[in-house]
Amino acid sequence: MAGLVPILACTGVISADLARRVAGLVGRWPVGYETIPKVSQPQTNSPFIRACRGEPVPYTPVWFMRQAGRSLPEYHRLREGIAMLDSCTRPELVTEITLQPVRRYDVDAAILYSDIVVPLRAVGVDVDIKPGVGPVMGQPVRTLDDVSRLRALEPADVPYITESVKALVGELGGKPLIGFAGGPFTLASYLIEGGPSKNHDKTKALMYGNPELWHALMGRLAGIALSFLRVQIEAGASAVQLFDSWVGVVSPADYRHAILPHTSRIFAGLAAYGVPRIHFGVGTGELLGLLGEAGADVVGVDWRIPLDEAARRVGGGKAIQGNLDPSVLLAPWNVIEPRARAILDRGAAVPGHVFNLGHGVLPQTDPDVLARLTSLVHEASARTPA
Ligand code: CP3
Repeated sequence: MAGLVPILACTGVISADLARRVAGLVGRWPVGYETIPKVSQPQTNSPFIRACRGEPVPYTPVWFMRQAGRSLPEYHRLREGIAMLDSCTRPELVTEITLQPVRRYDVDAAILYSDIVVPLRAVGVDVDIKPGVGPVMGQPVRTLDDVSRLRALEPADVPYITESVKALVGELGGKPLIGFAGGPFTLASYLIEGGPSKNHDKTKALMYGNPELWHALMGRLAGIALSFLRVQIEAGASAVQLFDSWVGVVSPADYRHAILPHTSRIFAGLAAYGVPRIHFGVGTGELLGLLGEAGADVVGVDWRIPLDEAARRVGGGKAIQGNLDPSVLLAPWNVIEPRARAILDRGAAVPGHVFNLGHGVLPQTDPDVLARLTSLVHEASARTPA
């Protein structure tokens, strides 16, 4: 067994430390795992990427949406006196903040520290992020004129993204970096409502009442999201997630005609890269099949639906990501542990499982609980030989 440790670590599959722990836990890799040839990009063979592809894994990989920032004191210290969106344009800060949770938790993937409104600002939209509130627009989108001012995103608009991703890929030493963009419905909602919204009424009113304006806006936002994701993949991101966080407020029939053509275009435009594409929204139990149909390889689910039922609804043998309720992490450990284990049990029965929360880490979450949860996921899911 000791001989396995240097082999695993030096192929870059996992860190030396994790190789040691996993080798000790597993005893042996699952059938087929050890025969995988060495690949030029080591991160393509990581447990996270393998799970996204539905391939055998030595243990269930885990990362947390919104793991960067929020609940970390070292993040708040670094951000002191610097506006959120300004911090996203400084590669040295982006790199450090992205790495902070990886160091703390030993998660299986990093997610780029940025925001879904960064590409909007890069094309000239007057947007700010108000602490404790979220994105706020200077001038909400209401007319075709407003839409026509939303120009396409060029790589030269976001040089700091390219620079940050390149630096991170070097720093991460084989651990995958997830790039991301906001889904077109979620971005449209912030633009139309002018800020965060509970019911997304103005957005839906426009979607129902002015299809021409709606599709013009969605088309531009899909184009921006696609370019933003391409920039990240071309700089070295090894997976991407489309956060269409608020899309769960529409019905399946409306999703199909008002949103699906645009999300499909995004996923189709990424297909040739061969990197896993994750599609996530909150409250999407009735939309799961459509989120997969849009072209994702992995569908992220929230806590409202059991993982195995989610996999059944997604269909097509796609992998599933989720789905512990982030609020559970505010309860004592004896409440958290059985719930996490129950998710792993259901996850073992789906085509591929990436452990995550059902939505982002809440700001008041104790970082030590996330570290403990990461260890639990790794240890409890370590595969015994078939
Ligand atoms: O996952 C990560 O840790 C990577 C970084 C990341 C941020 N935003 C950093 C951030 C990611 C992936 C996002 C995505 C994002 N941004 C989404 C989709 C994910 C989701 O939670 O549904 C949405 C809807 C936004 C818009 C947005 N930006 C909101 C709602 C907020 C929170 C406002 C608040 O303070 O409660 C932001 C700000 C934001 N984005 C922060 C961070 C770390 C907090 C900024 C701060 O520290 O002041």
